[in-house]
Amino acid sequence: MAFSIARFVEDCRAVRARPDWADAVAGLLAEAVREPGAIDAEVALRGSSARKGFDVWLQSGDLTIYQVEGRPGLISPPHDHAGVAVVGVYRGSEGYQNYRMAAGRLAPAGRVTVEAPDVAVLSPDLIHALDNSDSPGSGSIHIYDNAHFDLAQRRLWNPDTLVEAPYSTAQQFKWTKGARPAA
Ligand SMILES: [Fe+2]
Repeated sequence: MAFSIARFVEDCRAVRARPDWADAVAGLLAEAVREPGAIDAEVALRGSSARKGFDVWLQSGDLTIYQVEGRPGLISPPHDHAGVAVVGVYRGSEGYQNYRMAAGRLAPAGRVTVEAPDVAVLSPDLIHALDNSDSPGSGSIHIYDNAHFDLAQRRLWNPDTLVEAPYSTAQQFKWTKGARPAA
């Protein structure tokens, strides 16, 4: 059966209450990322990703799902997710610059590349930046166990000074380099 956004969201919702929800969602994502053409076709019909670079499939208090068109050269500021994140890359590759806190300061802590088709479960204490500076571009699906956008307890850092700043989605986008300008 071809990939369907509506069915995928339903399937993720159906496993969210399970204690092993992240592994269950990772299993659903592992199936989805094997159908990049079908994902791209559904995303293209919705139009949001072509305009904004991402397409929110679901946002709720305990589950948020969205697709990202990670253009080559896209670099986000360092951030956390205030919860578990499950990421599936279905096209190209997505780079992550990881960070750690050292003596109260944010410090680089290695890079990770996720190449399609692949799925990664990210720990709730992870701090990272999406960094597609070495990527041909990516198509990916991001799933979180919270409302994700404008969540006050999330953390954000200025990418130039690595000084922490109050979290907001607007500030995160402002500090994202190489993003498609908002239409
Ligand atoms: Fe992230």
